[in-house]
Amino acid sequence: MKRLSLLLFVAMSAAMISAQLYLNPQAPIEDRVEDALSRMTLQEKVAILHAQSKFSSPGVARLGIRGLWMTDGPHGIRPEVMWDEWNQAGWTNDSCTAFPALTGLAATWDPQLAYLYGQMLGEEANYRGKDVVLGPGVNIYRTPLNGRNFEYMGEDPYLASQMVVPYIQGLQSQGVAACVKHYALNNQEVNRHGYNVNVSDRALYEIYLPAYKAAVQQGGAWSIMGSYNLYKGQHACHNQYLLRDILRGEWGFDGAVVSDWGGAHDTDEAVANGLDLEFGTWTNGTTSNNKEYDNYFLADPFLRGIQEGRYTMAQLDAKVRNVLRLIFRTSMNASRGFGSMVSAEHVAAARRIAADAVVLLKNEGSLLPLAKDNSRILVVGENAIKMMTVGGGSSQLKVKYEVSPLQGIQAKAANVQYERGYTSGEKIIQDAIDFGEQLDDPRSPSQMIADAVEAACRADVVVFVGGLNKKPHQDCEDSDRESYGLPYGQDELISALAAANSRLVVVNVSGNAVAMPWLQKVPAVVQTWYNGSEAGNALADVLFGDVNPSGKLPFTFMQRLEDYPAHQYGAEGYPGVDNQVYYRDDIFVGYRHADRQKKLKPLFAFGHGLSYTTFSYANATISKKSMTYDGKVEVSIDVTNTGARAGKTTVQLYLSDPKSSLPRPVKELKAFEKIELQPGQTKTVRFTIDETMLRFFDDARHQWVAEPGDFVAHIAAAADDIKASLRFKLEK
Ligand code: BGC
Repeated sequence: MKRLSLLLFVAMSAAMISAQLYLNPQAPIEDRVEDALSRMTLQEKVAILHAQSKFSSPGVARLGIRGLWMTDGPHGIRPEVMWDEWNQAGWTNDSCTAFPALTGLAATWDPQLAYLYGQMLGEEANYRGKDVVLGPGVNIYRTPLNGRNFEYMGEDPYLASQMVVPYIQGLQSQGVAACVKHYALNNQEVNRHGYNVNVSDRALYEIYLPAYKAAVQQGGAWSIMGSYNLYKGQHACHNQYLLRDILRGEWGFDGAVVSDWGGAHDTDEAVANGLDLEFGTWTNGTTSNNKEYDNYFLADPFLRGIQEGRYTMAQLDAKVRNVLRLIFRTSMNASRGFGSMVSAEHVAAARRIAADAVVLLKNEGSLLPLAKDNSRILVVGENAIKMMTVGGGSSQLKVKYEVSPLQGIQAKAANVQYERGYTSGEKIIQDAIDFGEQLDDPRSPSQMIADAVEAACRADVVVFVGGLNKKPHQDCEDSDRESYGLPYGQDELISALAAANSRLVVVNVSGNAVAMPWLQKVPAVVQTWYNGSEAGNALADVLFGDVNPSGKLPFTFMQRLEDYPAHQYGAEGYPGVDNQVYYRDDIFVGYRHADRQKKLKPLFAFGHGLSYTTFSYANATISKKSMTYDGKVEVSIDVTNTGARAGKTTVQLYLSDPKSSLPRPVKELKAFEKIELQPGQTKTVRFTIDETMLRFFDDARHQWVAEPGDFVAHIAAAADDIKASLRFKLEK
């Protein structure tokens, strides 16, 4: 009898466990979602739709359903903050690897490196127990004043799409969700909670949305973050057009929509228009420590509305499904690894990506690479010693270490001196993180220049490392730059250094283009980025030729601010008047604008980047002279390394539609390939063109169309360096 009841008990328990489908990691996710949903009370359902702390949302403790831990993003895993506050919690085990800021990743033009980046970041997230990384960001580079451009992937929708997809795939291969941000039209920080974007459907679909669409459809992003700004008068976090019509309707997104921190403003809209997870309400994302989670728009007001019959259970369940799906993909994903932090592999990846991101803009007389001999190298500039993982807003990181440019150079050369040259003033302390940087200098600005010039006269070569930094009004969240020029008197300093020593290398560290009034006087210019933990080593790898530079610009360096089309329409174009910003520049952003202004010659074009070797292009061919709508043509070109060093370069394909019913850009990037060549080696690069690559968005018909007629395929080394142009026809 005893034995029988024991058997019965075992059988009943087994039945109960097997019936708990949601706990079975082998069961299909949709079955787990439905099972969990069927067991949850009304209150439990509402509870999982909003934050319980600064960065976490609750699960259902009673059912063993785990909550979600979010983390910034996008360049490393943010240190632990207090439960209810932005200030860091003071943990001693949360120092991370910083990977290059996303402008740098985009400058590699290497999708394989983007995958590696995501994968390594996912491992760090796993070790820290984080389920969702708040990134990557793919807002298009519309103005060089945008304080957050450094977190994004440049001006071209195709390049950004190609780089964001593998980042997401690499990250999510670790069971950690990407949260692609800031969807959408968040192209400035001035008045970021208040401005409403007026943009044509054409520019929206051709320029501002493609990288998000690719992130969702090709990358399979598990979550997306609504931005702070408004579009058509509605906040993006609960915007009927962006979320309901486009994201869910047109693209079939099955992930969760997360609000930016403090980006939700209204329960009716949040319920109706597709917000699933609400965070940071009544904070502005950088200040204000609100703790009233029950009063969030998707908390008690939503619950009361359901009880009073104003909202439906179907509306609630749709959101709960999206959040449960995210939970089963991440925090209750049993195949997720345990992760690691600052492993040798992560460090190597950070250095490799950072080195491949560095762009050699100019190199007259082959001043670079520097010799590793005993020559006297003078390093000048604050950015040679400044920590760049500190500041900048939510992407700030607490790193285990950060190699500065000066340290990187010192590691490779014996005879290195340093002069400050200028100062940006006080060090940054954000979120109560103080690394004890010593940036004060009692000297006057003119004395600092005089001292640097004197040292420059005695040096064999001068390496100036300056640019922007992560302070407010530089490259920093929640504020935009106030001018296009370099701050802190750097132009004057650079000119003085150039007069003192003709062997001057200028290294610009930034996430944005800057004016270069001294360009003609300086023989070598290098663009580098907020390149993470290994920034200094990666820069030195390039300066001394251990890595042959192969980065290419992901955005145009115009001569003057006025040359950017966003700045040609007065305050209405940027930063807006009465909370309205008009994108009159329309589809003509970056090189799309430069191309059609005959007189406008950028300082450095989109896609530009030199190497220590040289490449020649020959034998451009096209497979046929015409194609049908279901056909293809192939273009190819032979690229030869004609120099003495191995090197990489990115071959770019731009397409032109010379005659069309709507105005089109002179040319648009449609494919690229990064190749590596040994000295003397030749490779044939091939691109296949199909009809989808010839389309534009016809807003009157709300449809992508390719019109029959002539097209031109340009194979190029940069937007201003076309190597071959091949004509073909699209037949009716
Ligand atoms: C930023 C987001 C960030 C969030 C959480 C907001 O202020 O706009 O990018 O992920 O804060 O830190």
